[in-house]
Amino acid sequence: MRILLLAHAFNGLTQRLHGELGVAGHEVSLEYDVSDSVTEEAVALFRPHLIVAPYLRRAIPETVWRHHVCLIVHPGIVGDRGPSALDWAVLDGRKAHAEWGVTVLQAEAEMDGGPIWASENFPMREGKKASLYRIEVTAAAVRAVMTAVERFASGQFVPKRLSEMAAQGRKRPQMKQIDRAIDWQRDDSATVLRKLHAADGFPGVADSLFGEPCHLYDGWAETKLRGGSPGELIGRRETALLRATVDGAVWIGQVKRGRSASIKLPATLAFADHAASLQELSDLSRPDFWKAEGTWQDIAYEEHEGIGTLVFEFYNGAMSTEQCRRLRTAVDWAAARPTRVLVLAGGADFWSNGIHLNVIEAAASPADESWRNIEAIDDLAETLIRMESKLTVAALAGNAGAGGVFLARAADLVWARDGVVLNPHYRNMGNLFGSEYWTYLLPPRVGIDAARAIMKHRLPLSARAAQDCGLIDACLAGDPAGFRSEVAGRARELGRAGDYAARLAAKRQRRILDESAKPLAQYRAEELGEMKRNFYGFDPSYHVARYHFVNKSPHSWTPRHLARHRDLGWKVPP
Ligand code: COA
Repeated sequence: MRILLLAHAFNGLTQRLHGELGVAGHEVSLEYDVSDSVTEEAVALFRPHLIVAPYLRRAIPETVWRHHVCLIVHPGIVGDRGPSALDWAVLDGRKAHAEWGVTVLQAEAEMDGGPIWASENFPMREGKKASLYRIEVTAAAVRAVMTAVERFASGQFVPKRLSEMAAQGRKRPQMKQIDRAIDWQRDDSATVLRKLHAADGFPGVADSLFGEPCHLYDGWAETKLRGGSPGELIGRRETALLRATVDGAVWIGQVKRGRSASIKLPATLAFADHAASLQELSDLSRPDFWKAEGTWQDIAYEEHEGIGTLVFEFYNGAMSTEQCRRLRTAVDWAAARPTRVLVLAGGADFWSNGIHLNVIEAAASPADESWRNIEAIDDLAETLIRMESKLTVAALAGNAGAGGVFLARAADLVWARDGVVLNPHYRNMGNLFGSEYWTYLLPPRVGIDAARAIMKHRLPLSARAAQDCGLIDACLAGDPAGFRSEVAGRARELGRAGDYAARLAAKRQRRILDESAKPLAQYRAEELGEMKRNFYGFDPSYHVARYHFVNKSPHSWTPRHLARHRDLGWKVPP
């Protein structure tokens, strides 16, 4: 079938569906919901059999839904209606909803009121709204959409109206800031965290810090440290601030300063001057990265049965200069441990999305900060490439994009959770050439032609497709807990295998041969030569693209590589 995806953005869920529907043999094209007339035009050009809307901000025009079946993905259980489905589910918490779900329904005049084609539930988890969306909602939505598409294709299925079904959900209004407001004099830590989670990554909780209005994001529990009166800031650690509640304290990782029109930044950077005067709560006397329980820690190391695991939970997978430098120190430190395998586990939602575009945007000289950041991430990649003391595994529980993919590829093995999406290309960011030694790391894995095609086509790759083309080494269990235990099991096997010493020796030998064929420094110099042009050259495309990306400028057109019906050679089907 020809399936048109209508979406506000090519977000993670839309990327997953784009891949899954293609693998299922459908011809898929995408159009952003820019305006009614653009949607109508896309439908006229593509003549889809079916329209799927995974993530919309505008209603589909009646001229379209009257004549085509349009399937809308609603991130709520059957019967749930309204624009703040997940926000309410997270705010209500697990006591109210042991399960949450996704419903695929047909577009009609009443929002979320059309007949239901499929639904899928999942156990509710305490966590950020965006994280639930990226993991549980996305997995359930893919299952539900694929079921709905099969049902539509069968021509036999009659979708049911809500009134014919046993539904637990109900209609809820749009959540307002008044519903989200934290009462620091009354709300306990658990309530504060639920409010922060329900507003993460958008729109944040309107509050104030240092007497200035701001929006708060990225809340984390603290079970030991406390002090001050409720609402007071107790101290700082790395990028986060610790704030007292009535029964303890919570960490706040990200802040948008002012009432509007600013960008989300690490809290200690958003209020750099004020935060500098707060007490430093890192234990600077202990130069190690051992995981501590019950507190916030963005880089945490654990060791079990000869396997070291380094978790780096950087918000949105964005890695600033400072974070890259700290992570490199942590990798060096972990390399010196008496282990055989080092697992680089990244974060739960993202493994890495490369250099930190928001921190770069906020810098006095974005070009200089881009340069510092790319050097720091290259240093980190080089540390991995040159690590001789043990085998390394990049274990991707979450998605990776741009330089983040090649940073992972710098490890000896790359294993990804089934369902993870990789974007191993840079050009969407204003024609960025990219670094992280991709010119050294990519071609040997996939071949020169495929490497060129991956970079040129700028399309996401599912973990399975990435395994098929050789970009990654294994695609493991799809559920996060199953993935973690499979990674632990395989890493143990790797460390105990009879050929471990031979593998390590072969890795050293390969490095020597590679270095004599073309030194790593040369790859780096060539890539950075191109990046210098991107950052400092006369063509400002990268700076313009970054500005629009971090400020979330609405799209005004759909890129050609996604809107196949706008290809120059496209012929309107009969
Ligand atoms: N720096 C800062 N923030 C980043 C980021 C980066 N490198 N990559 C992603 N983010 C943020 C997004 O702004 C968004 O923020 P939000 O919390 O305010 O919504 C969040 O991470 C999720 O990203 P989103 O784009 O919504 O995720 P996605 O799954 O739809 O798309 C990517 C994933 C990787 C395709 C997309 O995020 C992207 O293109 N990132 C930039 C990659 C890049 O060019 N890096 C620099 C070169 S190394």
